[in-house]
Amino acid sequence: MTDQKQFRAIKGTRDILPPDSTLWNWFEQSARDVFESYNFRELRLPIFEDTSLFARSVGGETDIVSKEMYTFEDKTGAAGEAGNLISLRPEATASTMRAYIEHGMHTLPGNVKLYYMGPMFRRERPQKGRYRQFYQIGAEVLGQSDAPAIDAEVIEMLMTFFSRVGLTRTTLYVNSIGDKNCRPQYVELLREELRKVKDQLGADSQRRIETNPLRVLDSKIPQEQEIIAKLPRISDHLCEACREHFAKLKDELRLRGVAFEENWRLVRGLDYYTRTTFEVIAEGLGSQNAVCGGGRYDGLVELLGGPPTKGIGFAIGTDRAILSIQESGNLPKLPGLDVFVAWMGAPTYPTAVGLTKKLRNAGLSVELPGEEMKFKKSLNLADKLGARYALIIGGDEVASGSFTLKRLADAEQKKLSEYELLEYLESERRGTRG
Ligand code: HAM
Repeated sequence: MTDQKQFRAIKGTRDILPPDSTLWNWFEQSARDVFESYNFRELRLPIFEDTSLFARSVGGETDIVSKEMYTFEDKTGAAGEAGNLISLRPEATASTMRAYIEHGMHTLPGNVKLYYMGPMFRRERPQKGRYRQFYQIGAEVLGQSDAPAIDAEVIEMLMTFFSRVGLTRTTLYVNSIGDKNCRPQYVELLREELRKVKDQLGADSQRRIETNPLRVLDSKIPQEQEIIAKLPRISDHLCEACREHFAKLKDELRLRGVAFEENWRLVRGLDYYTRTTFEVIAEGLGSQNAVCGGGRYDGLVELLGGPPTKGIGFAIGTDRAILSIQESGNLPKLPGLDVFVAWMGAPTYPTAVGLTKKLRNAGLSVELPGEEMKFKKSLNLADKLGARYALIIGGDEVASGSFTLKRLADAEQKKLSEYELLEYLESERRGTRG
């Protein structure tokens, strides 16, 4: 008996179908355009890496590494020999650092400005805006300088991109979580204060008092909010250098006209951050409303065996950003099918094939049926496919060299020679697509 199993996409993964895929391509292309205008260049990275790369950079105690990674043993070939532990990447900052070190990019002139896009994998509980295979567009700046202007430029680029794609109902939160000089004291102070109120906290927060007290500030549990509001704030405990860095960052953002809100509770869920952290939330997404997270990670390259290096970057959650754009209804006009070629009678077919080729070469999207269709059926299909025009090619048209172009929206018809047809459709396309 044959297996009748109906295959379905694995839980937490999904197919991006047309026309959504057109929206995705436009979104990603817009990112390329904006990022390249800031002199960032693309880095293409592998989808899996040594598990320990993520453990060392993101942090072994984080949810991402301790619970959510897809990890497997890569067979070495020799029977019985233990293979290497490999993980599907849960994020790509670690991979970027690995590539930076591996290719000696610290010898490149100026700051190294890279961006990447692609799927990431985390075994989280799937819900709206949260998937096990999701997509990020990220950018990272690596180099010798930690000037607040670099942080501000990265954030400005991010917000420029969001406004370019019509993601405008957003809030940008910024914070500084200090560095190795001031954060340990603050974390200790926080831990002491949290121990005093331990009984009033839930199990997760109770555990975090010992493992990572900063993460308690991330809690969304309603009963904990009043307690958290009274905890000491990092902004009152930054060292002089971090305080100055944060103040300058805010000045730089104002200079660049980037609107932001300070949020002292923004600590982020990855271990590598120092000083600047930021996040953007968007409307229409429910609880999974963070569309971008980022921050500074000076010292991460060193931690992975590279030279002392400063770094800052972010990653946009493409799935969520696109969801928010869709929910807002603020959708761009995207190119669709321009012309449906309705040819009638076998003798017209060679002309139809030849004209179709010319129209496609001119950059138009053209559908040419491979089999003859009745005229009415043909126009019906053209309509259903959303074509803007039907190009009607019958025996008379071939004989006279003059073709009928019908605009489907209002049924207006024009008789045009091949030359006029190409001229008209090309200029019309320039007009509608810019
Ligand atoms: P992250 O905050 O873990 O940061 O992820 C960035 C964004 O990815 C989130 O704000 C969210 O939009 C999206 N995201 C995360 N998990 C999921 C999921 N399960 N489903 C859908 N979207 C998700 C990072 O990954 C850092 N590497 C960012 C960074 C780059 N920091 C410095 N450089």
